[in-house]
Amino acid sequence: MDGLVVDLGEVVGPDQVLSDPEVVASYTVDWTGRFRGASTVVVRPGSVAEVAAVVVACRRHGAAVVPQGGNTGMVGGGVPLAGEVVLSLRRLDAVGDVDRLAGQVTVGGGATLGTVRQAAADAGWAYGVDFAARDSCTIGGNVGTNAGGLRVLRYGDTRAQVLGIEAVLGTGQVVSHLGGLLKDNTGYALPALLCGSEGTLGVVTAARLRLVPPSPHRVVALLAFGGTAEAVSAAAELRRGLPSLSATELMLQSGIALVCRVTGAPLPLADPHPAYLLVEAAGPADPTGELADAVDHLVGVAEVAVAEDSVRAAALWRYREAHTEAVNALGPPHKMDVTLPAAALADFVDRVPDEVAAVAPRAETWLFGHVADGNVHVNVTGLDPDDDRVDDAVLSLAAGYGGSISAEHGIGTAKRRWLHLNRTAAEIDAFRGIKAALDPDGILNPNVLLPAP
Ligand code: FAD
Ligand code: MLT
Ligand code: ZN
Repeated sequence: MDGLVVDLGEVVGPDQVLSDPEVVASYTVDWTGRFRGASTVVVRPGSVAEVAAVVVACRRHGAAVVPQGGNTGMVGGGVPLAGEVVLSLRRLDAVGDVDRLAGQVTVGGGATLGTVRQAAADAGWAYGVDFAARDSCTIGGNVGTNAGGLRVLRYGDTRAQVLGIEAVLGTGQVVSHLGGLLKDNTGYALPALLCGSEGTLGVVTAARLRLVPPSPHRVVALLAFGGTAEAVSAAAELRRGLPSLSATELMLQSGIALVCRVTGAPLPLADPHPAYLLVEAAGPADPTGELADAVDHLVGVAEVAVAEDSVRAAALWRYREAHTEAVNALGPPHKMDVTLPAAALADFVDRVPDEVAAVAPRAETWLFGHVADGNVHVNVTGLDPDDDRVDDAVLSLAAGYGGSISAEHGIGTAKRRWLHLNRTAAEIDAFRGIKAALDPDGILNPNVLLPAP
């Protein structure tokens, strides 16, 4: 390791090689606190050439590397759980000029999502991906996890935004294709491959992103329902009948009550209700009337609050976005981020608490999610971080319904032992073949995504 540290210092300068245990410690624990690792060194390159030289040095020394952006990932994929070198991309935070004609921008892998969103807005455009970690998570991490978030129903996931990629492969070679041509059938689509590869194939140093038209008019409403099934049906109906729909988020009374308890916010409606939808409509013209009409036609709405202004809209959004921190306030949760087929979604949500209780009677279950995508976030608190019996029960239940064990957070280290629930042996073999081609010595995030051989 000493020889590696010296070599890394020659590449990035000694100031950008961190080895003070207290400083390094802040890079070795994930956001949830569930995944705690250790490392002797964090390296912070400042350019793609430096990233390439760092990878080459690590390869020469046989040292495994964990690429890390904002360290907001939820599946233990960005922290060194087996003593890996932490390769922090945060210095690659440049945001290029917005190409106003093309509606595109090239950004560094370490630029935060929030900075990119602001740069797009300043140029009269918008960026389609958004979620609560916006000011900490990075575009490299978003690509690594193929992040989804709050507006997938309108704009798609991160993969749908990425037109070009620059990355350093496990060989140390740089692949760069940032022209942003909308039609470009010149071989394999590396951007698509790297989206969701969780740092196992390449280190993303830059991305060319498509931008979307801004939506200057936005209206937010909170709808209450007597049960999950009614809320799920209403979300489908809104998706069909409300073209300006830009978000529909499912919450339950238990989660709302927890958010109120942790943040001090008042209950959002006069009465408590079993299920809620946070609905946002947005577009070039005021969608308030359109939203009101659509809500009038819904079945099973028990109570409604419509935000009259942007302050109230932010307050309503806060009930949803604060779920993550409110759950974390109870101690490190087990987070199971799953997708269900639409027809099974309500049944799954209603069954999960009992399934969890059957395995861990004293645990608590918190459910919320991006309902239009079929994406439910199952959070369980009160469990030992290493006790994965509940994870097994919930992921098996989701897969049994024909669902996915990872909707948007990735597989990481947390779920690699269950990948077989969604992927055949032939698919996993193909994944290993791709990994071997792009990272022949297996130094990039070797303990993530692919099951242990
Ligand atoms: P990290 O946590 O640093 O890393 C995540 C993974 O990407 C790791 O496997 C890492 O090795 C890899 N990686 C990081 N940088 C690079 C790079 N430059 N090149 C290659 N691989 C890299 N996620 C959603 O999808 N939707 C949500 O709605 C959402 N909401 C969230 C809300 C909160 C409050 C929090 C804390 C998190 C939320 N997340 C959400 C999870 C998280 O923010 C995303 O997974 C995000 O994409 C991670 O970005 P990051 O920069 O923090 O990556
Ligand atoms: C969210 O939608 O809030 C995120 O994916 C984070 C979480 O699951 O807590
Ligand atoms: Zn989410």
